[in-house]
Amino acid sequence: MFWIVFASIKKENPLADDTIMTASKSPETSAPAHDGVDPKRVPQKILPTGAKIPVIGLGTFGSDRIPGPQVAEAVLGAAAVGYRHFDCAAVYGNEDLIGQSLRKIIEGGVPREELWVTSKLWNDKHGEQDVVPAFEKSLADLQLDYLDLYLIHWPFPNYHPPGCDVTSRSPDAKPYIHENYMKTWRKLEQLVEAGLVRHIGTSNMTIPKLRLLLRDARIKPVCNEMELHPHFQQPELFKFVVDNGMIAIGFSPIGSPARPDRDRTASDTVDTEDPVIVEIAERLRVHPAVVCVKWAVQRGQIPIPFSVNRRNYLSNLRAVVENPLTDREMEALARIDRNCRLIKGDVFLWKENQTWEDLWDLSGEIIPA
Ligand SMILES: NC(=O)c1ccc[n+]([C@@H]2O[C@H](COP(=O)([O-])OP(=O)(O)OC[C@H]3O[C@@H](n4cnc5c(N)ncnc54)[C@H](OP(=O)(O)O)[C@@H]3O)[C@@H](O)[C@H]2O)c1
Repeated sequence: MFWIVFASIKKENPLADDTIMTASKSPETSAPAHDGVDPKRVPQKILPTGAKIPVIGLGTFGSDRIPGPQVAEAVLGAAAVGYRHFDCAAVYGNEDLIGQSLRKIIEGGVPREELWVTSKLWNDKHGEQDVVPAFEKSLADLQLDYLDLYLIHWPFPNYHPPGCDVTSRSPDAKPYIHENYMKTWRKLEQLVEAGLVRHIGTSNMTIPKLRLLLRDARIKPVCNEMELHPHFQQPELFKFVVDNGMIAIGFSPIGSPARPDRDRTASDTVDTEDPVIVEIAERLRVHPAVVCVKWAVQRGQIPIPFSVNRRNYLSNLRAVVENPLTDREMEALARIDRNCRLIKGDVFLWKENQTWEDLWDLSGEIIPA
């Protein structure tokens, strides 16, 4: 219904700025669905390697609720409406199914080089001998011969069973130990040198941890994937990432309304119910989720919203090419930050009497072991 409205008041690539360019002009891209978005219209950011990353990707974590086949179907459907960027991870437990979709997408005529596929190393695979086999499994499951981006999912090497309760603690849990993180990072660097990964990056890092990594890395991280939504804007970390030539990839960009129960607390706020967001959504006649996506892209991060609902993932993609937020709306949204972290990471705590805040180096120093 809203698409008719969108089509009639569409503006030309309004979100382009000097860090963003429009996508490749190659004519052979398979055509998007009739109501989809031509991938050439989706802005991209240029990385130091010259590679281009679409400014929106599809998240693929089913939050323990959405079965793998449904997520894989959404990947296929999202490619058909114009998505080219997919955020995957071994721990989401669905890379083998997503791989089947990626193969179909490529066989259907989308050149591999037009896709951007990210995967992540899970926390129980940080050991030097474990990194390459874990990577190879993701690569094989995804049915690819290289990845565009490989991330260390969390800076803590702590195993916990999938779906475990927030109170679960591993007896072997360890704090962040920079020397060990660098051993893992060296393995990622070797994957780049072997041509198996085009870029490497971090996820869930803090400023003090990133400072050390930037000091010691031979191959610098191109991005930090971090929680970013209007109620959790992380302005200091966001600025640090950008100032250091990295890209901020924003996870849970809509405030993860279907996140697992273990990631919910009574004090959490709900972005999509914020009166400022709701008012803008009413002006644009879109769901508040779409406003969150627009805010993210216009601020300069790359959101990776999850959806298995065609109407929703299509509206998120259209959000980045149509009807930008005004400067005044962007200013209003900057003021609704609630510093509300949703994915707190309690399961990574490594000793008694800690709280999740201890994981995030709030004092500006890495919390001592
Ligand atoms: N690096 C990390 O540690 C990390 C952590 C968390 C997440 N992630 C990544 O980030 C991705 C996104 O985060 P997330 O899944 O937590 O949360 P999210 O993208 O903020 O929210 C997803 C939810 O929003 C709904 N939604 C999406 N678009 C909508 C629209 N236009 N209108 C109405 N509802 C809409 C979806 O429902 P429907 O399916 O019904 O549309 C889904 O329930 C994950 O899938 C994963 O790839 C990474």
